[in-house]
Amino acid sequence: MEIVKAAGLKKYYITDTYEVHALDGVTLSVEDGEFLAIVGTSGSGKTTLLNLLGGLDMPTEGGVWIRGNSLKDMEDEERTVFRRRNIGFVFQQYNLVPVLSVYENIVLPLRLDGAEIDLELLEGVTLLLGIWEKLERLPQTLSGGQQQRVAIARALLTKPAILLADEPTGNLDSATSLEVVGLLKSCAEKFHQTVIVVTHQEEVAQMADRIIRMEDGRICSRTDGGGDVKKSGTTFGQEG
Ligand SMILES: Nc1ncnc2c1ncn2[C@@H]1O[C@H](COP(=O)(O)OP(=O)(O)OP(=O)(O)O)[C@@H](O)[C@H]1O
Ligand SMILES: [Mg+2]
Repeated sequence: MEIVKAAGLKKYYITDTYEVHALDGVTLSVEDGEFLAIVGTSGSGKTTLLNLLGGLDMPTEGGVWIRGNSLKDMEDEERTVFRRRNIGFVFQQYNLVPVLSVYENIVLPLRLDGAEIDLELLEGVTLLLGIWEKLERLPQTLSGGQQQRVAIARALLTKPAILLADEPTGNLDSATSLEVVGLLKSCAEKFHQTVIVVTHQEEVAQMADRIIRMEDGRICSRTDGGGDVKKSGTTFGQEG
């Protein structure tokens, strides 16, 4: 079943001095439970796409549908609530609150939302991520990889149907990256989540069910899990 749909998605930045086509006609369908990787050179539009898919930003043209709900047709407030209930973000910078313990960091979004903390899920996720024994620590007493896992746990705890991660292993070495993405994948499988990961690490991308490659604001090719690149020409993933 399709959970995320983007059609004819464009994001243009136009001022007196420049015109940037950050996203230039992306059409994409993501299946429920899929683990999708987005790769591409710097400036190809990956973050722009992720932000639009997550409703953090609005497109110039085209639209995004989450389980058939059109993000741009929602009121701002409605979209904020919808996003909080359906979508989790893992940003490249961990964005942990330094004065709060790991535990407090992980449950912060739930507290802000007045939502119940699922202690069983918290235990399951933190055990899987290997930070169960670090819950009382402050973030700065953890390694970068451990802090990254706290950020991932925080996103997973809100049980988002869709997890959007922008370079979640961007600051980690190759071995730790694979470890973190492996854990992310097993969490997603266990808790039935759809994951979209932006990465510049080919070995991370290879762990996904499907890889989308971007160039100049467009999807230029895709690779299935097995690794066979299917060049798309002008028909796949693009409109206009
Ligand atoms: N607010 C903005 N105003 C003008 N141009 C922007 C803005 N945000 C992004 N861009 C431009 O849009 C293009 C795509 O940016 P984007 O951040 O999506 O790239 P990216 O693929 O995530 O790159 P990276 O791998 O470096 O993170 C770039 O050329 C960027 O300069
Ligand atoms: Mg980016």
